[in-house]
Amino acid sequence: MTDTPTTTKKPMPPRHVAIIMDGNGRWANARHLPRTMGHKQGVKAVKTVVEAAGEQGVKYLTLFGFSAENWSRPEKEIKELMNLLRFYLRGETSELHRNNIKLNVIGDRSRFDDDIVEMIENVEELTVNNDALTLTIALNYGGQQDIANAAAAIAAVAAETGFAPSAEEIFEALPQQLMTADLPAPDLLIRTSGEQRISNFMLWQCAYSEMVFTPVLWPDFGADDLRAAIDEYAGRDRRFGNVKSLQG
Ligand code: IPE
Ligand code: IPE
Ligand code: MG
Repeated sequence: MTDTPTTTKKPMPPRHVAIIMDGNGRWANARHLPRTMGHKQGVKAVKTVVEAAGEQGVKYLTLFGFSAENWSRPEKEIKELMNLLRFYLRGETSELHRNNIKLNVIGDRSRFDDDIVEMIENVEELTVNNDALTLTIALNYGGQQDIANAAAAIAAVAAETGFAPSAEEIFEALPQQLMTADLPAPDLLIRTSGEQRISNFMLWQCAYSEMVFTPVLWPDFGADDLRAAIDEYAGRDRRFGNVKSLQG
């Protein structure tokens, strides 16, 4: 018997994957370790997933690293998170550049220490022309704040010109004022650790994102988990309010 050649059409990977990286604390708790150890392991998962995303054909990867609401955590934990951010930026800047990855940070960076802001500016400047993967890290980011800031920018122009824009005009103009203006909308939003909420992540941008919630804690999330989420995405029928996106 001879094998009949088959052509299996591989579905297109999601162009933009966004991830709410959650569960570091629970990962550490389960091992009777301090929460910081969970965050440290979480940084390792970031490196793994950045590499895997590129290999799996993702062009834009956006990671929620620190929310505007996370400042309410104990001072010690925040200090440790800031040190890990320093460690990541110091250790990864040249590696990202070598791998042709463009890194940018969204969120209000004014609250970070000067050395961190400087490291962010350096890596953004160094990698600005890279195009294998655009990695965006959301730090001190809030989706509601992003929308409010965008609205304020539009309001400032309106005040200056004395011309009140219509809702339709605001609808058109607002995405270009968001911190994600240069990114396409996420196709797939993943949240780890079993929580099923958006926690003030990219509220406007995720209007039509497919969502995958996995019980895997972020420090354990690896290439296979990303592949599983992408496979689940591939089986979804994105309709965007229409009747059917599939042909036939
Ligand atoms: C995600 O892990 C990392 C940040 C939000 C900085 P958590 O620290 O939220 O971990 P859990 O939710 O307590 O397990
Ligand atoms: C969301 O996780 C923020 C990040 C992953 C950076 P949280 O752990 O802060 O979210 P909640 O408080 O459980 O909603
Ligand atoms: Mg959490």
